[in-house]
Amino acid sequence: MTREREAMGSAYMHWAKTSSQARFNLATSGLANLSLQDLHVSLADLEITNGGYGYETLKRALAARYQVDTENIVTAAGTSFANHLALAALLNPGDEVLIEHPVYEPLLAVARYLGAKVKRFARRFEEGFRILPKEIEHQVSANTRLLVITNLHNPTGVLTDVETLKEVGEIARRIKARILVDEVYLETLFEGSPRTSFHLGNEFVVTNSLTKAFGLSGLRCGWILAEPELARRMWLLNDIFAATPVHAGERLSVLALHQIEEIAERSHALLDRNHLLMNQFLDTRTDLETIRPAFGTTMFPRLRTGSADSLCELLRERYDTSVVPGSFFEMPSHFRIGLGGDSESLAKGLERLGEALDQNRVR
Ligand SMILES: Cc1ncc(COP(=O)(O)O)c(C=O)c1O
Repeated sequence: MTREREAMGSAYMHWAKTSSQARFNLATSGLANLSLQDLHVSLADLEITNGGYGYETLKRALAARYQVDTENIVTAAGTSFANHLALAALLNPGDEVLIEHPVYEPLLAVARYLGAKVKRFARRFEEGFRILPKEIEHQVSANTRLLVITNLHNPTGVLTDVETLKEVGEIARRIKARILVDEVYLETLFEGSPRTSFHLGNEFVVTNSLTKAFGLSGLRCGWILAEPELARRMWLLNDIFAATPVHAGERLSVLALHQIEEIAERSHALLDRNHLLMNQFLDTRTDLETIRPAFGTTMFPRLRTGSADSLCELLRERYDTSVVPGSFFEMPSHFRIGLGGDSESLAKGLERLGEALDQNRVR
């Protein structure tokens, strides 16, 4: 008898692709996309075909950037596929996985799709959405094979510090589990970014991409950092998924990595401006409660009263502005605002959000 799979798609991803568009789109979570013209590239830099397990030049560039060996690296189409591949390599049907709440929904959907037994641990507003190792301690069992967290946290932008990660690592080590850390937002701290948690021990498996901090989502340049034996298993598993990457994309990714400092400077300046705008806006709102990290590309305000679903609908229909309803993060009194777009759109979008909040209150 075949078992119905628990998830055959991602409700969030479907919504993002079909229903998040608006003139003032504050529903995105990365830096505004760069165009090909922003990269210094010529057609002669590209090639079509390359064989084997990933492009060595790209693996070497990533290895140098993250101070790992090339045998620790598995490249994949974005953090999305890096997450899928890592979860598929780490979880068998029926295995127990402990995932943070709230979480980036596709992580949950993939674990369910793989037939894992999903358990959750809470990150609470009242605790500043921090990871409390005792919450994890409370929820793990001898059957837990994997812990899953995002750092920075999507949706809140909260950073988990090294000390906490070490404590979580100890819990995982004791029960012989691994930790998957999705670090796709970590580099929005730029020169202040901590080292990847991959260096904290063999139980750490890290995913990342050039998507969020650098506005290079379209390159689909993602990767996994894992100990060599696990990385090898992932490459072999990939033979029945993507098999071979798009080589022109690999070449472009190498060129982008050569220019990454320059790209990061643009991102950094934009995010500094946008954090200021966001904080000025939040200072004026007594109807919102918000944990306000000093970095990252998202914040996750909570309405003091009511559900954010009707606010999000009103905002999109009447004000042509979108944010992500907190219901996609299983927290319907919240909504997520993206800070990575151009500053003028953010300022106008926030103005409209303010009007929608006022109108929503009197409805
Ligand atoms: C935590 C997290 N992981 C992965 C992704 C997807 O990243 P990519 O575009 O590199 O596939 C996102 C995008 O929103 C995300 O928030």
